[in-house]
Order: sequence, then structure tokens, then C-alpha cells
Amino acid sequence: MEIQSLTLAYFSPTGTTKSIVQAVAGGMNQNTTRDIDITNPVMRKNRLKTSEKEVLIIAVPVYLGRVPAFLDEWLHAIKAHNTPTVCIVVYGNHAYDNALRELKDILIKRGCKPIAGAAYIGEHAKTMKTSMVKDAAIRLHTLNKKQKVPILFF
Ligand SMILES: Cc1cc2nc3c(=O)[nH]c(=O)nc-3n(C[C@H](O)[C@H](O)[C@H](O)COP(=O)(O)O)c2cc1C
Repeated sequence: MEIQSLTLAYFSPTGTTKSIVQAVAGGMNQNTTRDIDITNPVMRKNRLKTSEKEVLIIAVPVYLGRVPAFLDEWLHAIKAHNTPTVCIVVYGNHAYDNALRELKDILIKRGCKPIAGAAYIGEHAKTMKTSMVKDAAIRLHTLNKKQKVPILFF
């Protein structure tokens, strides 16, 4: 089957995952026809449908060693049809645990055909200056220490 296009889908509140996806796509010598940024929850109202004639690159940051839980609904609603898929996770040089396998397994169930996978190291969001991210990371850390509950604030 001849590949006719490239679809990028990513969640990237602090921009690292987005820049990695775009760099990978840049090396693939394919026309990008779709760039789907699901960072804004409004964008996650649309279901992703893909065919076997396109390559899908899908990337998420690692949160607490996993695919961010709040992306589950969107990921599990993907409707792919033997779509060759590149799975990418981006982590803050702490650990990506099983996140890459988790992403791959979800995508297989949705009809994707993983052809490559990668775990890239990005800057950890908690070292960034952006106040929203920094506050979220500090609150998360505090809560985890006191309550041992993984709560996310995005
Ligand atoms: C709530 C939260 C949890 C995180 N958990 C991990 C983790 O378990 N392991 C790790 O190495 N990095 C972790 N990180 C760092 C992110 O994976 C890293 O900053 C990533 O590059 C962010 O991607 P983005 O710039 O596309 O938003 C976490 C960041 C946040 C905000």
C-alpha cells in the first residue's frame, strides 16, 4: 500500500513533545496533511480516524510513568484501519516506565500497526519557568508526599 500522507497527533502543554514530533516528521519526507494538537481539551472532542494510506505519528509526554490518564478517552476512541504508526513518548529524564508499551498497546487495539517507537528525553516540566506548569508540579509533588495519590492539575 502506497503511503499518501502523514498525520501528526500530540499532547504537549510545555511544547517539547510537539517539537519532537515535528522534527521526526521533518525527517520522513512526506507531505503533512494533518497536524492534530490535542493539548486543548476542545480538540479532544473530535475523534481521530485514520486509514492504511497514511502514516500516523502519535506522541504524548510521560506523566507518573504512564500515558496521561486524561488522554485515555480520546486514545480509546481512535478509529484506525491498519494505519502504520510511530509511537513516541517524551519524558523528563526521570523514568518512562511502561508508558511506551502502554501507548503501543492502546493503539494496536484501535487498529493501528506500530512500525516504530521511541522514548525521548525532554526538559522536565517542573524545572520550567512557566508558572502554571511549575505550580502544578509543586502541588503534585506535595500531594504525592502527603497523600500518595496521583492527582493531575491540567
Ligand atoms: C504531572 C507531570 C508528571 C510527570 N511525570 C514524569 C515521569 O514520571 N517521568 C519523567 O521522566 N518525567 C515526567 N514528567 C516530565 C514530562 O514528561 C516532561 O516534562 C515532558 O517533556 C513534557 O512534555 P511537553 O513539553 O510536551 O509538555 C512529568 C511532568 C508533569 C507535568
